[in-house]
Amino acid sequence: MIKIAILGMGTVGSGVVAIMNKRGENIKNKVGTELKVEKILVKDNSKKREIELPPEVLTYNVEDILDDPEIELIVELMGGEEPAYEYITKAISKGKSVVTANKLVIAKYGDEILKLARENEVQVSFEASVAGGIPIIRPLKESLVANRIEEIYGILNGTTNYILTKMTQERIEFDKALEEAQRLGYAERDPSSDTKGFDAAYKIAILSSIAFETSVDADSIYIEGIEGVTLEDIKLADELGYVIKLLAIGKKYDDGLNIRVHPAFISKNHPLAMVNGAYNAIYLYGDAVGDVMLYGKGAGQMPTGSAVVADIIQVAKDINYNRLDTHSLGAPRNQQIKEINQIDNSFYLRIQVLDKPGVMSQVTKVLGDNHVSLSAVSQKHMLTPIVPLVLITHPVKEENMRKSLYELENLESVVKINNLIRVEKKHNG
Ligand code: NAP
Ligand code: HSE
Repeated sequence: MIKIAILGMGTVGSGVVAIMNKRGENIKNKVGTELKVEKILVKDNSKKREIELPPEVLTYNVEDILDDPEIELIVELMGGEEPAYEYITKAISKGKSVVTANKLVIAKYGDEILKLARENEVQVSFEASVAGGIPIIRPLKESLVANRIEEIYGILNGTTNYILTKMTQERIEFDKALEEAQRLGYAERDPSSDTKGFDAAYKIAILSSIAFETSVDADSIYIEGIEGVTLEDIKLADELGYVIKLLAIGKKYDDGLNIRVHPAFISKNHPLAMVNGAYNAIYLYGDAVGDVMLYGKGAGQMPTGSAVVADIIQVAKDINYNRLDTHSLGAPRNQQIKEINQIDNSFYLRIQVLDKPGVMSQVTKVLGDNHVSLSAVSQKHMLTPIVPLVLITHPVKEENMRKSLYELENLESVVKINNLIRVEKKHNG
């Protein structure tokens, strides 16, 4: 028998216990011995639990778990940086293996945690930390390992994809869609981690570290969330043949990496355009395999529970058969992440201008002087002195686009810069 402990019994923890109860016999056969949930750590002793548990299993004191030498595997499902990081490192130092769904801790401290695990001859697995139920960590480390991975495009955050889908399909306002995502258990304890793009950034940092064999520092990733995306942008995107998605992008060039998270216009024909609701997808290109797309539920109790229990089975099996499987997250940090200003992209620009002769030529002059060329222009006819102007550019260095914006802001005929959103193609180069 292998004794395990679970830290956290919220959305994901409850799903893990439900799956383990339902699939107990099958899990036992796969591991080669029985798995017993010896202890579950929670914080709030007044909370009604979704799953009934024997009272002796619940604890409010982590030492009951860390100091129990019979517990060989810790499953961390609390989330957040602290005390999760502290408990994970203490568990490893005491010779316990760890399964976690915590992308923040893995993105920030993955190298250090895996080094500690190697020193203590234990395992750390984190499949559920990226894209919930979609298997991506193990496929990158094993099934796709023969490839040089060149590009990753991900919809990696279920909450924001749910919000953008609701705004697109039902024209529901941002705040209402976020409330629904929270009620459905998709959002982080602090949902601004989802809406501001940090959650997706942690996930692309983890994927890029593995795929590009380098240690990617999440703090050097350019991040923009979806809070600036309005129903007006979504409606205009639709009219122009696009949808807006929060993309997490990782690309490897000979002279560095391009890693970023931001909302993007993608064509309605793009494979990622069909990924809706809390679904996630990872679309990647490997030099041997070509295009690969993985699709599934990126958040929620049972999909995430599926990935966590798979890790538990794998690690428990290795414990049972006395095998040690310690993968490194990335090699040393030897590749620079390029500044966003140096990246070429097409852009959607929405501005408000005065409806009078010569305005369009002033706007296009500013853009032309900064080497920004246009692929589409749309000006709505309105019975007001101020009219909206929507422009789509050809690819141009972000630096040039930013300089144009600054100059446009200073034109008397430009009343307001409403929004600037990048337009992503399938393979941008
Ligand atoms: P959650 O519903 O907020 O549950 C967190 C659990 O941890 C609760 O049971 C809470 O105890 C416990 N906890 C928090 N701080 C604690 C502390 N200091 N001491 C003891 N217990 C503590 O979170 P979740 O949605 O299940 O997410 C858990 C992890 O999975 C996070 O890392 C998250 O990023 C990751 N994840 C979540 C999803 C998803 O769809 N939700 C998907 C993929 C990955 P109480 O119950 O007593 O409050
Ligand atoms: N809050 C995360 C999301 C949970 O919405 O994708 C899954 O990691």
